Amino acid sequence: MTDIDTLTERFFSATALHTTQVGNLAKHHQALAAALQREYADRKHGRQAEWDDAFAKLPAVEPSTYSLGPDGVRIGIAADLSLPGLSEDDSVARLQAQLQQFSPWRKGPWQLFGVDIDTEWHSDWKWQRLRPHITPVKGRTVLDIGCGNGYHLFRMADEGAALALGIDPTRLFLYQFHIAKQYVPALPIHLLPLRSEHLPAFNLFDTVFSLGVLYHRRSPIDHLTELGGFLRPGGELVLETLVVPGDEHTVLVPADRYAKMSNVWFLPAVPMLETWLKRAGFVNIRTVDVDQTSILEQRRTDWMTFHSLEDFLDPADPNKTFEGYPAPRRSITIAEKPG
Ligand SMILES: C[S@@+](CC[C@H](N)C(=O)[O-])C[C@H]1O[C@@H](n2cnc3c(N)ncnc32)[C@H](O)[C@@H]1O
Repeated sequence: MTDIDTLTERFFSATALHTTQVGNLAKHHQALAAALQREYADRKHGRQAEWDDAFAKLPAVEPSTYSLGPDGVRIGIAADLSLPGLSEDDSVARLQAQLQQFSPWRKGPWQLFGVDIDTEWHSDWKWQRLRPHITPVKGRTVLDIGCGNGYHLFRMADEGAALALGIDPTRLFLYQFHIAKQYVPALPIHLLPLRSEHLPAFNLFDTVFSLGVLYHRRSPIDHLTELGGFLRPGGELVLETLVVPGDEHTVLVPADRYAKMSNVWFLPAVPMLETWLKRAGFVNIRTVDVDQTSILEQRRTDWMTFHSLEDFLDPADPNKTFEGYPAPRRSITIAEKPG
């Protein structure tokens, strides 16, 4: 198996193939390479050796089939594994144990060679909610900021995106992404282990997604401005974030934790969020969905055994967080960069 660093570097040769569709992405290669060196290569993760070892032992097989559509991301079937001396069931059990070394699996679900990875989140539900409202990604160049393990990148590939580039600094998620991607290497999807702050203002993507990131930022309007800098003029922003009930004057800054998360900063009401987008220079702003997260969408599973949403809510009132704030609800807002 190719190691994770080589897979990450492969982005550069792969994007070169896409330069005709992606315009001037090539001119940012140097800046990206420098950021990767500084933020990724020079900062080894404490578990890198362990993960590299587990990654190298994954089966080197070709999937006989795959599908990335509404039925989920499914790559290969159990019969493809055919490990010498092992029954099909034993091969699947072995792969399951190998994949569990990369827990927690938060975003999914995935099915790999007969192993069902029942992730903490039903990320497919989020895709279903936003999909009818966005410009179809077919033929478009897409940037997914805070993409987690890249589950939605696979869904974008399925819908014919010309290039879907994900950005996420969490190392474990990079491994999870490549666990799936290595079996379908030709897909035009890539994940760079960076933060959005490390990226140049590309000014070229047709669509930029920021799903579940804004509330993690201390300076939300700066994040929106940054997202605008990634888009081409006329490009589309798809923004999903935590919101609270209220009007154009309402924003919640938790005193400390929110739903037991320590890194939550600004939770606006929808009209306030739309004002922020206006102030950041976006036009044609419309909120297309607001949804209170259910304990069916985010829950503890065998693949994410820590606390999950149910433990983050007030045991006496599921409409409140453990700390007494309004329970998590998420809005999807679409906006454009002026043409
Ligand atoms: C709540 S998860 C959302 C994942 C995915 N977008 C989804 O909606 O299912 C937030 C993700 O944003 C990433 N993240 C946090 N700050 C970031 C930043 N400044 N730049 C890029 N990613 C960031 C985290 O590593 C995490 O994977």
